Amino acid sequence: MPTKIEKDSVTGTETTGHEWDGIKELNSPLPRWWLYVMYACIVWSVAYWFIFPAIPWIDGYTRGLLGYNQRDALEQQLAAARERQAVLRDGIDKASLQEIRNDAQLLQFAVAGGGIAFADNCAGCHGLGGAGQRGGYPSLADDAWIWGGTLDAIHTTLQHGIRWDDADTRWSEMPGFGELGILTEAEISDVADYALSLSGSAGNAAAIARGAEVFEFQCAACHGDQGTGMEDVGAPNLADRIWLYGGEREQIVAQIAQPEHGVMPGWSGRLDPAAIKMLTVYVHTLGGGQ
Ligand code: HEC
Ligand code: HEC
Repeated sequence: MPTKIEKDSVTGTETTGHEWDGIKELNSPLPRWWLYVMYACIVWSVAYWFIFPAIPWIDGYTRGLLGYNQRDALEQQLAAARERQAVLRDGIDKASLQEIRNDAQLLQFAVAGGGIAFADNCAGCHGLGGAGQRGGYPSLADDAWIWGGTLDAIHTTLQHGIRWDDADTRWSEMPGFGELGILTEAEISDVADYALSLSGSAGNAAAIARGAEVFEFQCAACHGDQGTGMEDVGAPNLADRIWLYGGEREQIVAQIAQPEHGVMPGWSGRLDPAAIKMLTVYVHTLGGGQ
């Protein structure tokens, strides 16, 4: 036992009095702050053991005074989320399409839900993001609409489809001018040149002039005097360089001689009304909504 406190002459620190072969041990205790942090940790860990589930025990584990359980906590969060969703879904049910479009919260919900439903049900034909696909599947993200790009027009298209087995489906059929013998091959060739000239393609002027005459009698009733299309009868604009079935001359000729017609399924009865509304709003926001 050291009887008097000895100080190390080099550092000025007290020694513990222990000495081995002339080497003395300095008494430099741990810093205060470090000790306090350690005591606090001990207190905290003991409190934690009591309050929260902590250590494996004889049957299962110590449950803690709060009875906290991550699974219950997740359940509660899910239930809260479901409740919020139910409120929004209810909002979608009750609101008109225009009201959904104008309400930031409903719009966000509809676009998110519509986007998921679109990926599940529509993207196979219309492409991801509604970009469209060759072979008659129109882009839904541009301003070109065959049947109309207003909320109501899109809603009707989605509910009843196009050329679909539904009493209210959208229907129109371009006559096969070649297969039905309505026009000769030469007339079809001329009117194809005229149709191409509508979007600025150069061609034989005489053929285009003859084709214009054929167009006025045979085509304008559906495609319009200027060939810009008519939504009432689902006749596409021929002057916008956007083609369902391709813009090569042979493809135009083929469409006039023996037309193709796209089929779009109707979704009433297969998707619930709220989902169809959300899809409508989603499609409307893709870029070309009117
Ligand atoms: C089996 C393929 C197919 C599926 C699936 C499909 N569509 Fe279509 N859709 C078409 C075709 C083909 C047309 C063009 C019909 C025509 O030529 O008039 C079309 C047209 C449309 C139009 C009208 C475009 C316009 O310019 O007027 C809208 C809107 C539309 N689809 C939305 C959807 C949505 C939303 C879904 C999913 C719920 C969907 N479609 C699923 C094939 C499909
Ligand atoms: C009864 C209405 C009707 C008449 C008449 C009609 N069309 Fe069409 N035409 C349509 C419809 C509807 C489509 C689109 C088919 C579809 O959506 O699948 C179409 C499509 C086309 C296309 C393809 C457009 C594209 O984007 O690929 C061309 C080209 C065309 N018509 C040219 C003509 C010409 C030329 C005539 C006259 C000789 C004519 N049509 C007469 C209804 C008509």
